[in-house]
Amino acid sequence: MRFAKPAALGIACFLLGAVVTRYYDTHRRSTSVETARAPAEAGKGVEIAKIDFQNEPLWAYGFDRPPLPGEKALPQNPPSRNLRPDEDPVEQTKLMHLSGTSAAYSRVDVRDGQNVIDWFPNEHPPMPNVIAHGPAALGQNKRGCGSCHLPNGKGRPENAPVAGMPVAYIMRQIQDFRSGRRHSADPRKPNTNTMIELAKSLSDEELKAAAEYFSSMKWWPWVRVVETERVPRTRIQGNLFLPLEREKTEAIGMRIIEMPEDEEQAETYRNPHSGFVAYVPVGSIKKGKDLVTTGGARIIGNEFIRGKSTPCITCHGEDLMGQGDSPPIAGRSPSYMVRQIWDIQQGTRNSEPAQLMRLAVANLTPEDLVAVAAYVSSRVPQKSAPQQPQVPLVTSR
Ligand code: HEC
Ligand code: HEC
Repeated sequence: MRFAKPAALGIACFLLGAVVTRYYDTHRRSTSVETARAPAEAGKGVEIAKIDFQNEPLWAYGFDRPPLPGEKALPQNPPSRNLRPDEDPVEQTKLMHLSGTSAAYSRVDVRDGQNVIDWFPNEHPPMPNVIAHGPAALGQNKRGCGSCHLPNGKGRPENAPVAGMPVAYIMRQIQDFRSGRRHSADPRKPNTNTMIELAKSLSDEELKAAAEYFSSMKWWPWVRVVETERVPRTRIQGNLFLPLEREKTEAIGMRIIEMPEDEEQAETYRNPHSGFVAYVPVGSIKKGKDLVTTGGARIIGNEFIRGKSTPCITCHGEDLMGQGDSPPIAGRSPSYMVRQIWDIQQGTRNSEPAQLMRLAVANLTPEDLVAVAAYVSSRVPQKSAPQQPQVPLVTSR
């Protein structure tokens, strides 16, 4: 009898899963066809007035206050090799070195997104042109995909972790950016707009090369998740949290604060071995595990009480490493993750597969999202490629 309850719960979840999968199968055929043919204006139907700015998880977008009416992002400046007037010219042009590589780059090189720096070229396949230099059609405005997502596809909290995503998933996202079915729920987020411009400029060959390149690299741990009551005070630069102090003096509240393990390594050097730490509220991992694996469903006596959402594992897989159209999510950036779920809930990310997830997670509150993301990010990704070096994360704190 002691095992009866978990077993019954398992069966209930399984049945719920079967229903969802069924619904999904009957709806998925139309997806790719429709997305591919969607006219340029399709999906632009989300009225800004319908976005819930008051409850926005601002931390996930890298802001500290809701947008003012009409406030939106200015276009980002194209990358340039110009010296910055506010920095010492010698410092900017001096070659910098990292241990374990003979590569050497200056700050000017690091900032030159049209010629992406590559500290460890032996750790990934050769970068296709588009990864290193960007879509040719953009001319002087081009940017290599690796400048934001890093040559190893690990990405950063303010952009996206693309390594190890299925080729079909990556192609679909690019189509969604193009067709207007994917944009940010926060109109101030500048780099999502840049991403959309890049997606629109890719040739078929460039898209295929980029998708195959990022897909070929497996995921390995890149974010260290730490439960804590306090975090260092931070400043926000380019939608990324950076520490103002080593000590933790500020209450975390109902937020996840994700920042580089080592600011200098991540920012000045763009060292693709230097990962991120995500501070999450105490107790959030356990609460998240419940929502992710059961959706909050309970068995009380002989009664099955429905949860508030479909368990994430129903679609994203037991190990959260993805299945079908649902991408892998284990061990990835919690800020990125909550931003995506919020975009899906608000309808600014609204491809057909995303709409299906929207139905499943409609009842999750911003607090629930903190818990869910804390748990999912803390999962060690399974089936990581053995050929990848296990990068030792800097664990100073
Ligand atoms: C200016 C920085 C920047 C550059 C350069 C860039 N991206 Fe992105 N990319 C982003 C951002 C930001 C997002 C996430 C958008 C969000 O959070 O709203 C993103 C998301 C994506 C996603 C979706 C990932 C997912 O898991 O759904 C894919 C795929 C992608 N980018 C591919 C590319 C490719 C291919 C290139 C090169 C042509 C590229 N990116 C260049 C900033 C960039
Ligand atoms: C009904 C199936 C389903 C359920 C349940 C579901 N998802 Fe998803 N999820 C999807 C699909 C399909 C996509 C891809 C959407 C697209 O292509 O735009 C997705 C996308 C995502 C993304 C964006 C990934 C990326 O790289 O951009 C995140 C994050 C995510 N899901 C997290 C979750 C979490 C956490 C839960 C549980 C609270 C959950 N999902 C429940 C089907 C589901």
